[in-house]
Amino acid sequence: MGIILEVKNLTKKFGGLTAVNDFSFEIKRGDFVGLIGPNGAGKTTVFNLISGFERPSSGKIRFAGIDITGMRPYKIVNLGIARTFQLVRSFKFLTLLDNVTVPCLSNRGRQVSKKLGAEEYASTILASVGLVDKARIPPVILPHGDLRKLQIAKAIGTNPELLLLDEPYSGLSHEESEVLTELIKKLHDDGVTIFMTGHVLRELMTLVPRVIAMHQGKFIADGPPKEVANNKILLEAYLGRGGEFA
Ligand SMILES: Nc1ncnc2c1ncn2[C@@H]1O[C@H](COP(=O)(O)OP(=O)(O)OP(=O)(O)O)[C@@H](O)[C@H]1O
Ligand SMILES: [Mg+2]
Repeated sequence: MGIILEVKNLTKKFGGLTAVNDFSFEIKRGDFVGLIGPNGAGKTTVFNLISGFERPSSGKIRFAGIDITGMRPYKIVNLGIARTFQLVRSFKFLTLLDNVTVPCLSNRGRQVSKKLGAEEYASTILASVGLVDKARIPPVILPHGDLRKLQIAKAIGTNPELLLLDEPYSGLSHEESEVLTELIKKLHDDGVTIFMTGHVLRELMTLVPRVIAMHQGKFIADGPPKEVANNKILLEAYLGRGGEFA
């Protein structure tokens, strides 16, 4: 299958700090890939650059053959990339249904929602993530696991080809993590290309067949989790930061 995402020599500087340093990789359509690295490695910055929330200092990003380097986030969504945030974000005082209806009204969301109607489509998405019973309440009163699911529901509403999940397991209980894993697997089975980060690796390493590792903004390794887990530089990077490598 063809390459869906091509990142070439990507660099992002924040003043004197190089958060992403000459980073390159490719993802094929239908891939299921993890991006790992210790705290501050540059993972979120890579996602911010791909999704247009930050502009690179240099380097190129191509999605489905189109140069998206420095493009605005809404344009990137319209091309088929959705992302979730490490810190959950929602319209706090809208109902869950309204939160998910908004992305269903996006250009790509409408391609799917026009037959059913945006609200009806949002409702089927809420059902698919297990939140339909809570459709009429606002997210402010939800437990954290539900908020994570809501982030994914909103991303699905934009009908993405590529989904970037930034630390989707962060703050979840073991049970909530298992539910989330099933949800992510189902999205992948439905044909969505998945690229997700994690700094605590337990869940991620058993889920994805391929991981890309980074440290201090730089590429470290790319391959099956078992191989990458033995990478010396990565092991030292993790152990040096309190040994969250499990
Ligand atoms: N907007 C910003 N301005 C200045 N420095 C930033 C900014 N965003 C990120 N950084 C710095 O860039 C580096 C990479 O941060 P980033 O958030 O991408 O790491 P991460 O791998 O996602 O870490 P974590 O595992 O904690 O989520 C860090 O040193 C961080 O402090
Ligand atoms: Mg991060």
